[in-house]
Amino acid sequence: MSSLEIPTQPFPDQRPGTSGLRKKVRVFQQPHYLENFVQSIFDSLDGLEGQTLVVGGDGRYYNRSAIQIILRMAAANGVGRILVGRDGILSTPAASCVIRKYHCFGGIILSASHNPAGPDADFGIKYNTANGGPAPERITEAIFSRSRELDRYRILEAGDIDLSRTGSTELGGMTVDVIDPVDDYAGLMEELFDFDRIRTLLQGDFSLRFDAMHAVTGPYAEEILVRRLGAPTRSLMHTVPLEDFAGGHPDPNLTYARELVDILYADDAPDFGAASDGDGDRNMILGRRFFVTPSDSLAVLTANATLVPGYAEGLKGVARSMPTSQAADRVAAALGIKCYETPTGWKFFGNLLDAGEVTLCGEESFGTGSAHVREKDGLWAVLFWLNLLAVTGKSVEQLVHDHWATYGRNYYSRHDYEDVESEGAHTLMQALRQRLPELQGRRLGEHEVAYADDFRYEDPIDQSVSEAQGVRIGFSDGSRMVFRLSGTGTQGATLRVYLERYEADPDQQHQDAQTALAGLIRLADEVAGIRTHTGREAPSVIT
Ligand code: G6P
Ligand code: ZN
Repeated sequence: MSSLEIPTQPFPDQRPGTSGLRKKVRVFQQPHYLENFVQSIFDSLDGLEGQTLVVGGDGRYYNRSAIQIILRMAAANGVGRILVGRDGILSTPAASCVIRKYHCFGGIILSASHNPAGPDADFGIKYNTANGGPAPERITEAIFSRSRELDRYRILEAGDIDLSRTGSTELGGMTVDVIDPVDDYAGLMEELFDFDRIRTLLQGDFSLRFDAMHAVTGPYAEEILVRRLGAPTRSLMHTVPLEDFAGGHPDPNLTYARELVDILYADDAPDFGAASDGDGDRNMILGRRFFVTPSDSLAVLTANATLVPGYAEGLKGVARSMPTSQAADRVAAALGIKCYETPTGWKFFGNLLDAGEVTLCGEESFGTGSAHVREKDGLWAVLFWLNLLAVTGKSVEQLVHDHWATYGRNYYSRHDYEDVESEGAHTLMQALRQRLPELQGRRLGEHEVAYADDFRYEDPIDQSVSEAQGVRIGFSDGSRMVFRLSGTGTQGATLRVYLERYEADPDQQHQDAQTALAGLIRLADEVAGIRTHTGREAPSVIT
């Protein structure tokens, strides 16, 4: 086996976005494209030689080929040992768990999350550091600059490694350990949650439905929900991970998890429904004919955390991304714990978690998690909810209604305009930014503007600054609208408009969110000229 130095030329478009490098599979399949990016990662890591890395992905098309390339490149770059999930599978939170548990140097996760998979769809790759979390911008920017000047990469000349069985092999002096992708993660869940109480709940007349959407969480749900917690097999849907996710779009929300939503809204609906996304880090929580917004979910988990063994001692603090509703802030204030507002992107929670400033984190984009790993975690959220239902004996709806009665309700909705023309979307944002100074203190319809700015975050731990993270227009009555462009799309631009209104009166807390927010929705279009700039009459996804 010899190690080769392959001459190459830089690709100009390898800047990692919100969550790593995401492109069409065909882009990754261009000669040298993946290799260049992987070499740029290796070149940006000091002291990699002889270290252990974790590698795994969500099982989508090109996962296996990419892993074989990464293994050969790692061997040629002097990596000491690789832990790789059997069949190349590791959910994103499980990868984070394995990196932490075995004190690895870092890990490479292959996923484009919830984006569709297959030869004509998406692929992605990202690097996670020793804390188990996505690399901070300092490192992703270093990877990007390296990619701009790369002129060769190293790869071993060798055949494919058999990933279908657990065990150890050698590859050019590097050890490859094929590990069970579920074991370590399931063990961690048993430490955090009261499995006995959840088992009693699931074996009673409580019914549940979990949709793995033909993506990575299928094997995890089978092991944890069925084998360890005794839920009947019929509780699970679409558990076989497929390379093209059966042509679906495994994003757990009201639009893309339609089949599950229909089941939960039928006459004979089960008590609890949940889904996770392509790589297992997102979650959607449903009750019988009831949808829990991710923002409310974070607030409810925060308020009730001490009912769960892993959080019985209380929380150090809570963090949410800026566009996430302010529901959790109210709970934090009541509990007397800290509350942080970060830019969109799970990586911004890493420093706060590492420094012990916060225990729970959440994002409106169906992400919830805690200090147990450094990624958001779909099944963790499901187990957290099940633990709360088991302990309180309440239904999902009751738990949320009681929460609103105590803390008030933050009506919330996100309107997405997907795949719009990039130029129009950028013009909209630019025009909005220009108007910010003139909006200060003005009345817009029935609302008075309290602040209008472009969110800037200074990390309280390392003082790094992230500018232009989204336009916020906040009103004196606590309502808010936020505009930003998605950092995870692979086609055109996606405009996200986030709308929020606070309602303290329990008699007014049970309206449909779109109705309750209608005034703000109209105002958002007026202020930003959404229809004019995007040419769209309506959003493509409403969550
Ligand atoms: C991924 C990230 C999240 C982020 C979400 C939406 O799931 O891990 O942190 O909130 O994408 O990001 P976007 O930039 O598309 O709004
Ligand atoms: Zn994901």
